[in-house]
Amino acid sequence: MSLYRFISNNILFKFDPELIHNLMQIILSSKLGPFLARIFATNFNHKSKTSIMGINLDSYVSLAAGFDKNCSMLGALDKLGFGYIVGGTITLHPRPGNLKPRIKRYVSDKSMINALGFPNDGLKKITDNLKKYNLKTPLVLSISGDSNEEIIYLYETLSEYCSGFEINISSPNTEKLKFFHNIDNLSKLLAGINKIKNKPYMLKIPRFENLKDSNQNEQLTQFINTAIKHDADGIVLCNTLPISDKELKMGKGGLSGKLLYPNTKNTLKIVNKLFNNKIDIVASGGVSNSNEVTSLTELGAKSVQIWTSLIYEGPGLVKKLNKELACG
Ligand SMILES: Cc1cc2nc3c(=O)[nH]c(=O)nc-3n(C[C@H](O)[C@H](O)[C@H](O)COP(=O)(O)O)c2cc1C
Repeated sequence: MSLYRFISNNILFKFDPELIHNLMQIILSSKLGPFLARIFATNFNHKSKTSIMGINLDSYVSLAAGFDKNCSMLGALDKLGFGYIVGGTITLHPRPGNLKPRIKRYVSDKSMINALGFPNDGLKKITDNLKKYNLKTPLVLSISGDSNEEIIYLYETLSEYCSGFEINISSPNTEKLKFFHNIDNLSKLLAGINKIKNKPYMLKIPRFENLKDSNQNEQLTQFINTAIKHDADGIVLCNTLPISDKELKMGKGGLSGKLLYPNTKNTLKIVNKLFNNKIDIVASGGVSNSNEVTSLTELGAKSVQIWTSLIYEGPGLVKKLNKELACG
């Protein structure tokens, strides 16, 4: 058993997940953060090169949205060896998110559920954070909101701080995002962004539980067709899966982690068959080892994002994946 697994199983996992994440955020945001992260730094003699949205990447493995919602830990995360880092999701105004408890671990399944909503410090404070960095790793900013105007304003204001954007209309914990699941509304949003576009963007797609169901299959296809029609530069497959859990205050949330992997793989297979080479595809959901990264890239993903596996495998995971992918 690795030292990290021993510590997480015997200490960290005995406490509330959000409390531990907040503590980690305090440490990684401090001056000590980048120094500590260097212990787990990837030596980029091992390069597994790819590109996404025209941005060259040193690794197939990137950090998914929601890990650093306020972009306060980027100095430390920059050291770990990700291909790119997604910061956010950022909204125009600060938001407290949903009522607590709103995260629960499913330790034996290496998975978790969250119903965070979008707790974040809002555009102004996050912009102040972004001004501090001089990052080596390309930064993608995840943005969302309640209206086209809000998202377009975020895009316009934040574009000088990032290499590209992820437009998040897919978190299952924010009821108002359903507005963008109407294809006319989504089309208007993407057309509005295109009018001021100066950085590439990807659309993060909701997750569908059963793509054998023609209704769900049709909805997925519509999202991707809309992205392609509006010249989006990529799609991210997919966000968390909506499920119920009475222990969360909301009674429901989004499932992440290992339990999602079969769904991620199946979704990618279907999408790649239909849309091969028409748009860059990123896979997100349940990835925790290099065999899974390889399977997904062989199925057409140009990059793979991770989040929950970092909690179960620890910060050394990125270096391990980079090494195995370069050697494999
Ligand atoms: C606690 C938590 C918070 C998240 N917050 C966001 C978010 O703000 N925006 C977003 O697009 N996705 C968010 N996600 C979804 C992740 O970016 C990712 O798509 C999902 O967790 C599946 O990947 P994983 O199985 O590797 O965790 C969040 C996930 C978790 C676990």
